[in-house]
Amino acid sequence: MDEFASLQQSIERLIRIKCSNYKEDYIKRRILSRMRLTNTADFEAYHKYLLANPQEHDLLRNALTINVTKFFRDPEVFEVIRREILPDLARRKNAIRIWCAGCSTGEEPYSLAILAHELMALHQNVTITIHATDIDTGVLQKAMAGIYDRKTLENVDERRLRKHFIAHEDGTFEVRPHLKNLVKFREHDLMSGVPISRYLDAVTCRNVTIYFTEKQKNDLTHLFHSALAVDGYYVIGKTEYLAREVEHLFVPYNAVQKVLRKAA
Ligand SMILES: C[S@@+](CC[C@H](N)C(=O)[O-])C[C@H]1O[C@@H](n2cnc3c(N)ncnc32)[C@H](O)[C@@H]1O
Repeated sequence: MDEFASLQQSIERLIRIKCSNYKEDYIKRRILSRMRLTNTADFEAYHKYLLANPQEHDLLRNALTINVTKFFRDPEVFEVIRREILPDLARRKNAIRIWCAGCSTGEEPYSLAILAHELMALHQNVTITIHATDIDTGVLQKAMAGIYDRKTLENVDERRLRKHFIAHEDGTFEVRPHLKNLVKFREHDLMSGVPISRYLDAVTCRNVTIYFTEKQKNDLTHLFHSALAVDGYYVIGKTEYLAREVEHLFVPYNAVQKVLRKAA
């Protein structure tokens, strides 16, 4: 077995990520980025490093899943958005603006767009715009094309699939124009400030900050606080939390689903 194949076996055993689920080229690029950061010269040296350094397991897992996303990832969070957050916003205003920061290939903003479309059907005076940003232009191109395979859509039920997607003959599904029109994609580095006008009604920033230092995370919390209107909603990833220094900026709304609100 060659060194790369044997490294893949260790990755599957230690990190429980099935390399065969990904394109080989993608896996190689991610491992190469870890090799640069760990000063290891080739796959064999990196393999030894991985076996000897348990802390590398998490870092490699994060590197491999950096753009990973899916429609309605953590469906319970989207239920809170559907049942509570959007109806609350619609009661208070007509033009609702949401920022989806670190949107990757578009599954998260389009999931929000599905909920927005359903709400707008009930409240015809309400418009919802989703501003979706990411630092990676490659993922944004895929997001704008809006073509997905069945796997990433597994949390989308048949009714929504038929209503919001065009089924192509090759088995992929394309987001219909009425959803695409609700989402404005834009390249943006979160370290460079707020890219749209402030007083936003909600911000989602989920599973983005895994590589950020504590200082960067806290700066980002300040940034989102400044971007939101008072009482605006802030949704973070299921495994994420606010550091003590910045906790006072938000009040918990749903602690389990990691939804917060901007404190007055
Ligand atoms: C794991 S994906 C999360 C996608 C989605 N939010 C979700 O939870 O399913 C993380 C995304 O954050 C983006 N990202 C990382 N650093 C960023 C930065 N400094 N500014 C903007 N986006 C960033 C990456 O390009 C990647 O697409």
